[in-house]
Amino acid sequence: MVVVAPSILSADFAALGAAIALVEPHTDILHVDVMDGHFVPNLTIGPPVVASLRRVTACQLDCHLMVTDPASMLDDFARAGANGCTIHVEVGSTVQLLERIGALGMRRGLSLNPATPIESVEPFLGHIDLLLVMSVVPGFGGQVFMPEVLPKIAWARDQIDRNGFAVQIEVDGGINMSTAPDVVRAGADILVAGNAVFKAEDPAAAVLELQSVI
Ligand code: DX5
Ligand code: ZN
Repeated sequence: MVVVAPSILSADFAALGAAIALVEPHTDILHVDVMDGHFVPNLTIGPPVVASLRRVTACQLDCHLMVTDPASMLDDFARAGANGCTIHVEVGSTVQLLERIGALGMRRGLSLNPATPIESVEPFLGHIDLLLVMSVVPGFGGQVFMPEVLPKIAWARDQIDRNGFAVQIEVDGGINMSTAPDVVRAGADILVAGNAVFKAEDPAAAVLELQSVI
């Protein structure tokens, strides 16, 4: 069964606890989109909100750092109770950042934008726990899935399996019942879903439905 990580970016920020309570019975991972208004043109949430979420959920808090300066905030995310931090390969200093994430006891994630070639993550595959393949240009929820990233997922799956790396592949952006089957077939382990879950009439049912995708 594929794992669905609901993205709280699409939930009502004034009622995050209630939104999480709806999906928590059906998932172990919550995706937390951290945006700094610089790496992406949107500003969302940071460590204080993660600390508040930590108090209301036992789910893993999978923090996706769409920020230019992750080094300045990794310690704060760890202290807030984040289970994993995913940095973008485009920001550079990848080795040092991944080492710091691991030293802080968090899962080491690495992401790449749709325009970034998949080969750019190759040197790091042996040093991460999660590869996050973006299937939209990051910054906003509710965008349309870019099918041109499917070969990247397949390439990563092949590299990871061939080398026996313990890396999960997560795909983020525009995931819904029409796009999820191709993503799973290409080799994804975890599907991030924002709008498809939290804009659905019944978010819990939406998670279950996505999880049933072959
Ligand atoms: C986009 C974020 C995504 C976003 C996905 O920049 O990284 O996690 O919340 O939202 P949907 O599923 O609505 O595309
Ligand atoms: Zn994300």
